[in-house]
Amino acid sequence: MALYQPSTSSNIDISLPTRTSAASRAVTWIGTIGLLALLFWLVMHSALAQAAPSTLLTSEKLSWYLTRASGAVAYLLLSASTVWGLFLSTKIVKEWVPAPIALAMHNYLSWTAIGLSMLHAFVLLFDSYYTYSIANLLIPFTGPYEPGWVGAGIIGFYLMLITSISFYCRQWIGQKAWRKLHYFTFGAYVLTTLHGWQAGTDSAQLTPIYWTSLALVLFLTVYRILDALNRRYLTAPSRL
Ligand code: HEM
Repeated sequence: MALYQPSTSSNIDISLPTRTSAASRAVTWIGTIGLLALLFWLVMHSALAQAAPSTLLTSEKLSWYLTRASGAVAYLLLSASTVWGLFLSTKIVKEWVPAPIALAMHNYLSWTAIGLSMLHAFVLLFDSYYTYSIANLLIPFTGPYEPGWVGAGIIGFYLMLITSISFYCRQWIGQKAWRKLHYFTFGAYVLTTLHGWQAGTDSAQLTPIYWTSLALVLFLTVYRILDALNRRYLTAPSRL
């Protein structure tokens, strides 16, 4: 039985393999190990500038370092997921990555971005400078620090969660509704970009990442729209 049937539509192909393939397990393992290594490196790197490694684990600033490092990695993953999703919908990757791996990667990037965003918010509960409550993390615009920009991050997080969960509800909500819902990923991307840029301590260092990510997403979105218009034009019945 074919696990993957290529779609003729120009939209994201979601005729997914329903079984976890060896390929997607490999993506999961390799990705998780790489991510943990990156997170560890970022925490040590940001902390080393200010504290000796031996004092890191007892440092009262640990939660702040962790928030910053996990926020940066979560953002990288969300950007990668958005770019990869656009690669999928424009079919740019079709020629060089097998479809099950391409889809497994998209899913993996989205869910790890969500996991790291949860860690990023959760560690704020242990911050020694600002006092965050669980309600501050869940209800936008109620926190003690930059409530507007942090609120944008919370709403962005909810949009990420809704779109990722909706993937598993396609048979109930229907393909059309799912596709419309999936456009919320653009909202999630824009809100979290603004959030990180405006609320972050490391904005100056992360600026090249924000610009690169924005340029890639913008370019691929315009490409995607032009590609869809072109297909519509080519398949429209002639009026002559
Ligand atoms: C779930 C709700 C969220 C809360 C409560 C939250 C909270 C915060 C706070 C308080 C900061 C400032 C930390 C600092 O001093 O640098 C921050 C920065 C940041 N956040 Fe979030 N955030 C949330 C969601 C997200 C999401 C979904 C992403 C991306 C996927 C994200 C990415 C970032 C980035 C990149 C920074 C900048 C880090 C830095 O400059 O060091 N956040 N967030």
